[in-house]
Amino acid sequence: MSLRVDGLVHGYDGEPILRDVSLAVEPGEVLAVIGPSGVGKTTLLRFLALFERPDEGRVLFDGTDAWAAPEDERLSLRRRVGMVFQQASLFDASVRRNVEYGLRVRSSWGDRLRSLVRGNGTADAVREALGTVGLEHSADQSAGSLSGGEAQRVAFARALAYDPDVLLLDEPTSDLDPRNTAAIEDAVDAARGRGIGVAIATHDMHQAERIADRVAVLLDGRVIEDGPPERVFEDPDDPRAAKFIDGELVY
Ligand SMILES: Nc1ncnc2c1ncn2[C@@H]1O[C@H](COP(=O)(O)OP(=O)(O)O)[C@@H](O)[C@H]1O
Ligand SMILES: [Mg+2]
Repeated sequence: MSLRVDGLVHGYDGEPILRDVSLAVEPGEVLAVIGPSGVGKTTLLRFLALFERPDEGRVLFDGTDAWAAPEDERLSLRRRVGMVFQQASLFDASVRRNVEYGLRVRSSWGDRLRSLVRGNGTADAVREALGTVGLEHSADQSAGSLSGGEAQRVAFARALAYDPDVLLLDEPTSDLDPRNTAAIEDAVDAARGRGIGVAIATHDMHQAERIADRVAVLLDGRVIEDGPPERVFEDPDDPRAAKFIDGELVY
């Protein structure tokens, strides 16, 4: 599924944040959204996830305008999207329970995973999701005993267990050590391999270089660059993007 925002405009308390943003997340592609802190990366992901209605502009799921669609259709579009936040929030239960939760929420919504959950597919799906983040042996551990990095990997596995078409990752490794960061990056790679479209907000340009097929630079409420990492990092069109990439532009 292709997820796209078109002409997105939004502000808070009269302060414009997104002035005119058009951007697409395509199946099997990793899009890195970079830009200085406070520029609106999280806000943009929240609109992609249909958490809030933008002041102006459209959010398109395979061309369907989500905010023009009836509410039940919008809800079912919303379920195609998995999200991982900067800070994992797991509940006080085993790792397995936390990942299963993704499946159960989906099944209670009555979508195509219902039959999987009723049958004995749950255990397989949980095992597979945990395997993707390298935590297949931690299923029985209590979530409270995990390190921050491991908890973030479980949150990623939970999002994968939703079986999303699109994964939105909001700076998922900003607080993690290199080993846990590598595990998340490997999992992003695996998600891409399954045809999932991934949008990852990051301020780590090296990470964008490592994992992204496409990089969008957000500045002053607009996407000022959108292209392959080699092009955007080595030969940006916009002088402000060059400054940001060179580390001169710090907000
Ligand atoms: N719900 C909200 N109410 C008021 N201001 C908000 C809200 N959400 C975001 N903002 C403001 O929008 C701007 C962009 O925030 P954010 O999207 O979190 O930036 P980033 O993720 O790039 O650091 C910030 O100035 C922030 O304070
Ligand atoms: Mg943010």
